[in-house]
Amino acid sequence: MKNIAVIFGSQHETTIEIAEKISEILIQNGFDVEIYNIAINFSPEHVLMKKFDGFILGSGIQMGQWNPKVKKFIANNHVYFTKKGVKLGMFITCGAARSSDRFSKGNCDYVDFFASDLGLTPDLKANFGGVYDFSYHSNLNIAIRYILKNKEKKENPRQIEIKRENDSVNWDEIITFANNFSAIF
Ligand SMILES: Cc1cc2nc3c(=O)[nH]c(=O)nc-3n(C[C@H](O)[C@H](O)[C@H](O)COP(=O)(O)O)c2cc1C
Repeated sequence: MKNIAVIFGSQHETTIEIAEKISEILIQNGFDVEIYNIAINFSPEHVLMKKFDGFILGSGIQMGQWNPKVKKFIANNHVYFTKKGVKLGMFITCGAARSSDRFSKGNCDYVDFFASDLGLTPDLKANFGGVYDFSYHSNLNIAIRYILKNKEKKENPRQIEIKRENDSVNWDEIITFANNFSAIF
């Protein structure tokens, strides 16, 4: 049975749910899957000791950046993701789901920039959207909320409701991504 490691970083938990959904579909498709949240008991040596047929690397985006721990892990272990025969999928969770102006780097730009920076050529890549919670119940601290609201008002006018939770996660695309990744083996 082929085995796949899904490795991700998440600040506000959306990417956790996405990684879990991807893993669920891969398992349904007959793969052995190990899922690693880089923030919880993550040991690069332990992970890379095992032989994986494929990796899926994902991150929530903050201020235009991949999660720094995921970034560091990939940069330090680049060789594992470029091995011949090893399949690589990369995805991001981000607020700028569909726009592609010079600020928001929508669609796959956050994957493309980062992958090319590290010399990675993923077999599959995706931007699944994300959650910007500006509602009363948001757990974002008030200063961050203020900065992000202003950023979004400027960069994505009319796209983001600045008093609500904005959830642009596309679950159908997540399922399709996992099925397409399964199909490349
Ligand atoms: C402090 C902060 C900064 C963010 N910066 C960006 C950004 O630069 N571009 C973007 O598209 N989304 C940005 N977002 C939106 C996140 O990418 C989105 O909330 C995503 O769902 C986060 O994934 P996570 O919950 O797994 O951390 C930001 C969110 C926060 C809280």
